[in-house]
Amino acid sequence: MLGAIDRDRYAVIPVGITREGAFVLEDDEPAKFPLDAEHLPEVVDNGSRVRWPEPGGDRTLRVVRADGSVEDLGEIDVVLPILHGPHGEDGTIQGYFDTLEVPYAGGGVLDSALCMDKHFMKIALQAAGLAVAPWVTVRRRQWDADAAAVRASAAELGLPLFVKPARAGSSVGVSKVEALDELDAAIAIAFAEDEKVLIETGVSGREIEVAILETADGTRASLPGEIVLTARGFYDFEGKYLGGDGVDVVCPAEVSHEELAAIQDAGVRAFDAVDGRGLARVDMFLTPDGGLVVNELNTMPGFTPISMFPKCWVASGLSYGDLISELIEAGLRR
Ligand SMILES: Nc1ncnc2c1ncn2[C@@H]1O[C@H](COP(=O)(O)OP(=O)(O)O)[C@@H](O)[C@H]1O
Ligand SMILES: [Mg+2]
Repeated sequence: MLGAIDRDRYAVIPVGITREGAFVLEDDEPAKFPLDAEHLPEVVDNGSRVRWPEPGGDRTLRVVRADGSVEDLGEIDVVLPILHGPHGEDGTIQGYFDTLEVPYAGGGVLDSALCMDKHFMKIALQAAGLAVAPWVTVRRRQWDADAAAVRASAAELGLPLFVKPARAGSSVGVSKVEALDELDAAIAIAFAEDEKVLIETGVSGREIEVAILETADGTRASLPGEIVLTARGFYDFEGKYLGGDGVDVVCPAEVSHEELAAIQDAGVRAFDAVDGRGLARVDMFLTPDGGLVVNELNTMPGFTPISMFPKCWVASGLSYGDLISELIEAGLRR
């Protein structure tokens, strides 16, 4: 992504976040941050510390070098967050930038926080009239106090079931349950990631994803893509990131005109339902009877050139570089 930013339009100051949470001034070297299964990039603490602008002051970004010297890096117009996971896509860093009065691209506090928590995300989608898979949410204390009651409400949902942590992602802790005697193990796997767990009815249908983008002309939906599972039970972690075979990420998906319109409409409605801002990928199931069941929204979708979100925009006529410019421009308009 760093390598695809239009350098004729934008001057880039790369800021890294170390594992410990320090903001460091990074090298402007795209080759240093390849994103593939073999080498996940890591920000090394080089001793520098980036100082964000003070609220109420000017927007000058500064760096304190390892030797203690301070340098002005220039006034920032907009931050382009490229993050994943806790503090990255759950609204906390967005709130941090709001407090600093620094504009940023992409999702805001509310949509990021809502989409990080599958329980509340589903409530917001359902309230907007979108179909979601029937589910029950279980807290650890409920499970510890009365597992039999939880098993009974799970049984009412039918089989297969999907059990997942409320706040995780990347399919971590997600299990498919084909028989009720597998339920306890699936719940234990999910509780290892979060003390709040969802048990959902499994939806049979095609796994369709649509990319939503806020542009100067309003909210746009891309052509939809499809996760085609050829030899895998569901879209698990291995299939997503470890090059596990049996999964094809396809865009555009083969759908009829009516289906295309319905998918794009559901995508934009889902985006509005969570107060979406900037961008989101909306994942849904297209059922054999033509219905759409929204699975989830991702406010910080995978963004490598082979990821679904950019792929769908490229298929819709927007290049990878122009897509990044659109995101930056939406941030600048705020
Ligand atoms: N209710 C469901 N019905 C059918 N498949 C599901 C359901 N929930 C999850 N899955 C499968 O599991 C995968 C991961 O679940 P998901 O809810 O998307 O979690 P994550 O946030 O980790 O991506 C989905 O991409 C899909 O393949
Ligand atoms: Mg998912």
